[in-house]
Amino acid sequence: SESYTIAVDGPAAAGKGTLSKALAAHYGFGHLDTGLLYRAVGAKMLDGAAPVEAAQNLSPEDLARDDLRGPEVAQAASKVAVIADVRAALVDFQRAFARRAGGAVLDGRDIGTVICPYAQVKFFVTASAEVRARRRFLELAAAGKVITLDEVLGDVKARDERDMNRAEAPLRPAPDAILIDTSDLSIEEALAKAIEVIEARR
Ligand code: C5P
Repeated sequence: SESYTIAVDGPAAAGKGTLSKALAAHYGFGHLDTGLLYRAVGAKMLDGAAPVEAAQNLSPEDLARDDLRGPEVAQAASKVAVIADVRAALVDFQRAFARRAGGAVLDGRDIGTVICPYAQVKFFVTASAEVRARRRFLELAAAGKVITLDEVLGDVKARDERDMNRAEAPLRPAPDAILIDTSDLSIEEALAKAIEVIEARR
């Protein structure tokens, strides 16, 4: 049977991951958090590795490191993500995942524009920078991370700047993406909206 791909893009902490997980669970699809690939490369760069080589040799253990969620690795991820050869090294893995039988949800920055331009459905998930920073702050605080709301806001804005202004696969909505602003939506409301869009097309 033909594979079905849902592309979910947007800036940091907009709710892409939460929505993608919920959609994958709802439809019984696989879910790939593509930010994790860039985070793993960023973490290896912080360890002293060359980013392109790290991207070309990424292993399952690299993706399972327990230090990938922090703001230092997030910044490193957005720095390696501007390198064309790093991005190129990660394309095949992402496309293979998208084509897997049974359907797939991929979330990231360039899924609808570069990785899966033929995705059956594309969402661009946004929220105000303040709302996004507050959500990420609460997540990090819950995980025991000592950080201020201002530091998180600075991190989110710096990454968005870098992600939107890079030459290679900049963060932007695909022309055919459906915008979902989660600033005033609960997780359930955002999920219901996305399902409504998908059902209307199936
Ligand atoms: O989604 P997450 O915040 O984990 O992504 C970390 C960084 O990885 C982003 O700020 C972005 O620079 C990069 N990234 C990317 N393309 C993707 C996913 C993530 O450039 N598809």
